[in-house]
Parts: sequence; C-alpha cells; structure tokens
Amino acid sequence: MSFNRRTLFTAAGATAVAGAAGAGQAEASPRQFRQALDYALRKLRSTAPNIKSFPQETKFEKWTFADDGGWVGGFWPGQLWLAYVDSHDEQFKTWAIESALRLAPRRTDTSTHDIGFLFYPSWVTAYRLTGDKSWRDGAIEAAGSLIQRYNPAGRFIRAWGKLGTPDNAGRVIIDCMMNLDLLTFVSQETGDRKYLDIAVAHAETTRKFFPRPDGSTPHVYDFDPVSGAPIGPNTNQGYSPTSCWSRGQAWGIYGFTTMYRRTRRQEFLDTARKLADYALDVLTPDHVPVWDYRSPLAPNDIKDSSAGAIMACGLIDLARATGRYGYHVAALRILDALCDTCLTTRSERADAILARATRNRRNETGIEVSFPYGDYYLMEALLRVLKPRELGAAIGL
Ligand code: GLY
Repeated sequence: MSFNRRTLFTAAGATAVAGAAGAGQAEASPRQFRQALDYALRKLRSTAPNIKSFPQETKFEKWTFADDGGWVGGFWPGQLWLAYVDSHDEQFKTWAIESALRLAPRRTDTSTHDIGFLFYPSWVTAYRLTGDKSWRDGAIEAAGSLIQRYNPAGRFIRAWGKLGTPDNAGRVIIDCMMNLDLLTFVSQETGDRKYLDIAVAHAETTRKFFPRPDGSTPHVYDFDPVSGAPIGPNTNQGYSPTSCWSRGQAWGIYGFTTMYRRTRRQEFLDTARKLADYALDVLTPDHVPVWDYRSPLAPNDIKDSSAGAIMACGLIDLARATGRYGYHVAALRILDALCDTCLTTRSERADAILARATRNRRNETGIEVSFPYGDYYLMEALLRVLKPRELGAAIGL
C-alpha cells in the first residue's frame, strides 16, 4: 500500500478518523516507518550470524537466551521471516529455517499454553511462505499438544502447570488469546473442528470473565479446576488483581480481533473494541503505554513499549474489521512514538531493535529492556502499514 497523509484521511473517510481514537491528525510518517524497518533489518543482519539459540531478554542491551525457546522461541524465527517478507533476501529465509527447526522438540510439549506463541510466527509462517508441508504437520502436532490443556468443565485452556498436577490447574491468563490462532489454523488445514471449537470456547470464557465494565482487564482469572466454577481475578505481571497490565490488555485487543476475523462472531469484535477503547482512553500523550494502566504511579510510571507494538498491530486489524479508521490513526500514533522514542538506533551496543519494554515490574525483573516479542510486533506493525498484502500472505491476515 502506498501510504501518505492523503490516503490516511481518504481510505475510510475523513469523518471516521475522529472515531474512538479521538479527533486530530496522525503524525505518522511513512518515511520514518521505512527507516525503522530498514534499521530492524540491519540489526538482524548484524546479530543473526552469531545467534544459535533463542533471544529472551536483554541485559545491559545484550541478548540473553532461552535454549529450549522458553515461551519466546517463536519470535526470533518470526522476526527473520518478517525480514524475509520485506527484503526477499534468501539469507533471512535460511536463518529463519535454521532457527525454527530448533523449536522441533517443543511440538510435544504439553506443560504450557504458550504453544501458539511458539509455533505460529515460526512454523505456521514457514508453511505459508515455503509451502513445505512438514511445517504444517509440525504445527498440527503442536496444536494437538495445546488442546490437551483444555478444561471442558470450565471451557478454558489452562495457562501454567504440568498436566496431572494441581499446580495452577485452574489458572487462565489473558495472554492465551494469542495462542488460539494456531488452533484455528489447524482446524482449517485438517477440516477437524475440534481445535476451532476449543479456541472459541476459550475465547468465550475469557470474554465472559476478564473484561470489567470499563473495558480494563486483569492479567489472570482463576477457576476451580474440577467444577470449572469462577473464583476471581488475579495477577502475575500486573500491579494487582484489580489493575490493568498493559501488555495483557494488548494481547486481548489483538487476540479478540483475530478471533473475530476467524469466526465473524460479533461478541469477539465488541470485546476487542471495549478493550481498545479503554487502553486508548488511558494512553498517555506520549503514546507509549505505561507497564500497568492502573499502577499507583500511572501515568508517570515506567513504560512497556512491547505493549505499544502489540496494541498497534491489534488496532490496525481492528480498524479493518470495524471500518473505524480512528483505530488505524491511533495505531499510527503509537507506532510513530515507538519509532521516535524507543528505538535503539543511537546505541553502539544494543542487540535489539526496540528498547523500553518491561517484563514483570511486579517481580522487579526485566524493567525497560528489550524482548524478541517487542521487536517482532514492531516489525509486524510496520509491515501492516508498509506492506499489508505481503504480510497478510505470511501471517494469514
Ligand atoms: N506472555 C507473557 C508475557 O507477555 O510476558
């Protein structure tokens, strides 16, 4: 898509710009976005030759690694695939394949719900870009592992804890909305509805219990693992059970919009809008989310740029799903702010692309650092603006 101020205000009609995001002009600059993506590709070209594991988080600007992939192992191959989509440089494809293959042992992992995070940006994208059915078959196997975590009594996918143990047996987290698209993909590929049915059931349960009347969400909701009865909200990475962890809110916006796109269920779109409207309402004027919208220090608290990148992706999708261009404009503002104030461009030392992301402020770990998911969703958001058709073919938009 050629993108300029004119298309911004004509594509969906100028009146829609004043929608949920509020009136006013977007400051987005396509040249700035192109420069940011060029920077990302330069950074990947310089770091990838020496990376034989999965970047997890930076320490003093240098990657630390999770050799088995942790929950983040899909994002490094995912970034390399996105770089390939943008550049058509075969070197990125080679690196992406090498990296994605290292995730193979995780196909049979039933100990976590993060299987969608691991296999969607890596193996599903690999299948879409190469047509090699072994990636598709691996994704099907991974989805088979994920659905073993489904609790039919509560109609949810259990987030954490080894199956067959009481450890976190009734715990659901908002992040899991992002694991569902692996299941919709597998139903579509195999013609077997059971994966989709579980994804829909989990999304319905999340929709019923997570959003508060104002559209904010807790990170966690606990259920009785035997009866499936609701217990109540809780948190792991947010400030408290009554707060609103900004990355969780962003996972919800993105995840509910995706589930709407896959199912056309109006309630999922309504939920995505509700979550988006809350986040946009509390977003600070610098357009970079604080780590928790309801921390006592908010809005003057530390940032989580990764929440901004994820939210920008979700808002662009939401604008398309609703026809409300205000969400697109809001996404451009966030993206513009990330490019302006959060890139590592002036550091000689930085391994990552996007700085100022926060993992778990509550546990005092990973404060304003970089993550592979911050970098991945920044690149995805930039491609959503600059090359939506090519990106759509790669990630199934
Ligand atoms: N899914 C874990 C996180 O967002 O930190």
